[in-house]
Amino acid sequence: MTKKDLVFSGVQPTGNLHLGNYLGALKNFVSLQKKKECIYCVVDLHAITIFQKPEELRNNVLETVASFIATGLDPNKSVIFNQSSVSGHSELAWILNCVSKIGWLNRMTQFKDKAGTDKEKASVGLYIYPNLMAADILLYKATHVPVGADQKQHLELARDIAQKFNNDFKCKDFFPIPEPLIPKNISRVMSLRDGTKKMSKSEDSDYSRINLKDSADEISKKIKKAKSDSQVIPDNLKELEGKPEALNLLTIYSEISKISLEKIINEMAGKEYSHLKLRLSELLISEITPVGKEIVKLLEDKSHLTKILKKGKEKASIIAEENLKNIREKVGLI
Ligand code: TYM
Repeated sequence: MTKKDLVFSGVQPTGNLHLGNYLGALKNFVSLQKKKECIYCVVDLHAITIFQKPEELRNNVLETVASFIATGLDPNKSVIFNQSSVSGHSELAWILNCVSKIGWLNRMTQFKDKAGTDKEKASVGLYIYPNLMAADILLYKATHVPVGADQKQHLELARDIAQKFNNDFKCKDFFPIPEPLIPKNISRVMSLRDGTKKMSKSEDSDYSRINLKDSADEISKKIKKAKSDSQVIPDNLKELEGKPEALNLLTIYSEISKISLEKIINEMAGKEYSHLKLRLSELLISEITPVGKEIVKLLEDKSHLTKILKKGKEKASIIAEENLKNIREKVGLI
């Protein structure tokens, strides 16, 4: 990365954040803020593509800010704000709706998953959601976007849209082509109940995920109940093929302990998964419960969280307005 780099990412305020968000995104956000100019956005406009109860949405936005701070984001270093407070996101999204192509959107697998079998009933917002995501990134001319692997396809679309805008309006290099920053070792944390599905807020069973606000007791119960494998831990990675739940537990353990998968396998080969689960529970409890307690503490002072958003909005608006002025000019809007 160079000096002119700008990091942007977003998180939806749809309730309790979980271990997938933490390992796939938030930890990366925190390490990037030490080196780069970073903008982190609570994407409330994305959340409403699926109906949200207004009071819950308001609380969830504040809880997401609290989660950002509790995991180590510093509002004096990173810009933290909510998407709807900077109207440029919606304005640029409209312009990009006119640049992006229906064929591109039709390929988005997340829409297919979220809309389910009855696509006619999904909101139009859900369908054009990836264009808004491109607008989030391009509004700040962000160069790097830390996300989990599930957002890779959306990032590729944002890159295509940036490229097409630069071509259509004959302004080479106007929008930088944003680079995804996807964690290498654990790009996709999987559900504790089904290792073929990602850990997600929308899965019905709370036993499928570790929430940042879970108590020590809940964490150990969830890990104890997590699907693993009836055989012992093998002595090589190849034998984990076709055992996604076992691989997921080992990968989470590796990520948090900072010990390589190979070393863990060498050390634990021949042992029951209950051995791994015990060690994993201990590690998760010591890493996650302090974050959860801090979230709860921060939520006691909502006005402090609102002030963080206001300050972030002011900083974000300055960059957004300047860029929008140039974007309007490129498009020919007076
Ligand atoms: P969202 O809110 O679903 O998730 C926030 C971040 O957490 C990552 N993540 C995961 N990583 C690994 N394993 C998992 N199981 C897992 N679940 C979630 C996501 O990849 C994401 O990085 N569309 C985005 C939000 C967004 C955005 C943006 C992101 C809106 N505009 C612009 C980047 C740039 C979303 O719904 O993330």
